[in-house]
Amino acid sequence: MKRIVVTGASGQIGSELVPHLRRIYGAEAVLATDLRPLKGLLAEGGPSASLDVRDGKAFSDLVGAFRADTIIHLAGILSARGEGDFALAWDVNVNGSITALEVAREREAALFFPSSIAAFGPATPPTGTPQDTIQRPTTVYGVAKVSLELLCDYFHLKFGVDTRGLRFPGLISHEAPPGGGTTDYAVHIYHEAVERGRYTSFIAAGTFLDMMYMPDALDAVVGLMEADPSRLIHRNAFNVSAMSLDPEGIAAAIGTILPHFVLDYDVDPLRQAIARSWPDSLDCSAAREEWGFAPRYDLKTMTEDMISRLRARKRKALTA
Ligand code: NAD
Ligand code: SER
Repeated sequence: MKRIVVTGASGQIGSELVPHLRRIYGAEAVLATDLRPLKGLLAEGGPSASLDVRDGKAFSDLVGAFRADTIIHLAGILSARGEGDFALAWDVNVNGSITALEVAREREAALFFPSSIAAFGPATPPTGTPQDTIQRPTTVYGVAKVSLELLCDYFHLKFGVDTRGLRFPGLISHEAPPGGGTTDYAVHIYHEAVERGRYTSFIAAGTFLDMMYMPDALDAVVGLMEADPSRLIHRNAFNVSAMSLDPEGIAAAIGTILPHFVLDYDVDPLRQAIARSWPDSLDCSAAREEWGFAPRYDLKTMTEDMISRLRARKRKALTA
């Protein structure tokens, strides 16, 4: 990667991926774009532009004018929000992503596509979920992810577009809030633990889902996009995960630092049903073997880092 356009840059991933890419490739080499106005570091730390990914001409002009060799396509509508608005989820997640593929083809750019554990469904083996297995998701978000995994492979095979993707698990981070997903509880729990010392989970006790700390997700994007293509047997998309967690497990880890932390439950039937349709734990051996995926954070080290950063932010806000 030398010159990179990031779509959906204002979201949970983009807010940290854009500064990360700018540190590696240079501030002027990374163009941050989003439908929403870009603010703070995203706007001040390098070039930025407004872009609706469904606008093919604007998208293509922007990638051409920037002379981008890579598109990191993060624009999307997450799982729970998507269940509330089928038309919007389909339009952005499918039509907007097909536009990204067409632009990549036209401008001869590589394309990163973020798939998800949502690309699996109730018929998928739930533990040690293989790289290649049954994919019959039951959400519009998941159906869109499978469709795009297949289309990314098709554009690679048919047109030679360098498409690569990751099936992200729930990503836990402290910078930008999550955007309406099912795994959002695993982010909120840390914020509420530091702010109020308690959290009410909308996901039920004993519900395991794959998770990963954001620094490992950022490294995984760069690791995959910089991988030697001759080593890639798979492309769209690789299973990646660092831990399989349920709400009590996270609460227990928080409790080792904040002993008075209290977790209770008010389960949301929609998000609980989505969570139950996803695997408990992925097999990530293809990612390890084909491009060296090696996450650094486990539950203990992630929890220590999250709490220390959220505490520092709280102190700063109190003294401002
Ligand atoms: P997010 O909801 O935080 O951010 C998505 C961004 O896309 C927002 O800033 C939004 O303004 C923008 N957007 C929406 N519609 C747009 C449009 N028409 N044109 C341009 N921008 C538009 O999401 P995120 O968590 O940063 O996720 C980014 C991608 O990664 C998504 O495709 C998501 O499905 C995928 N993913 C995320 C996770 C996770 O845990 N965060 C897990 C698996 C996959
Ligand atoms: N974190 C995402 C969601 O819950 C998984 O793709 O929607």
